[in-house]
Amino acid sequence: MTHSHERRFDAAKRAGLTSAERWVRWNPPHLLELAGLQEGQTALDLGSGPGFWTLPMADKVGPQGLVIALDVSPEMLEALAASNPPEHVRLLHGELPAIDLPDDSIDFIWAAFVFHEVEPPATLAAELRRVLRPGGRLAVLDWRPDAEGESGPPRPHRISPQQVEQFLAAAGFVTVQHPWKDADGYLLWAE
Ligand SMILES: C[S@@+](CC[C@H](N)C(=O)[O-])C[C@H]1O[C@@H](n2cnc3c(N)ncnc32)[C@H](O)[C@@H]1O
Repeated sequence: MTHSHERRFDAAKRAGLTSAERWVRWNPPHLLELAGLQEGQTALDLGSGPGFWTLPMADKVGPQGLVIALDVSPEMLEALAASNPPEHVRLLHGELPAIDLPDDSIDFIWAAFVFHEVEPPATLAAELRRVLRPGGRLAVLDWRPDAEGESGPPRPHRISPQQVEQFLAAAGFVTVQHPWKDADGYLLWAE
């Protein structure tokens, strides 16, 4: 089956992903803390872009941990490499929903503003379950379809937390929590 890429974020707009305004807007250390990322973990930044979350994730896991930044866009990964990430960050070029990592190899997956871009979501959920170790955690941050503001992707492209939860349950995730939301976005985690 083939899928169009109309939902995919335009790599030409990558500079906007690392703006100071965006840092203030989303407060990465706070949301990563709420999601439960811990020191020493092996973490996967899914659809990392130029590394807005990758670098605070690397701070959080520390040098005993590892952050793998996966993206389909070479430009995004080049921008991340150019920001001089610490040694415990690895870049992984690949096209979701496939994830070129072994079974049970990841402690924590961070999927920020990417779940809604990947088709088919059921296959993505199954791949996330496969690479996550038992007891590991997946955290999804994404745009609310019923958001108040106009920022973010076209509303028909968005996926609700309830839809994400259904795909995750079908893939074998058993616990889902909704620790945070605001007028535009939501965070959920699943194990
Ligand atoms: C909206 S951007 C978000 C980037 C980053 N997570 C952030 O919040 O700053 C979505 C990212 O997912 C990547 N992406 C979209 N579809 C993908 C796919 N099928 N496989 C891998 N990466 C993908 C895009 O290249 C882009 O970097």
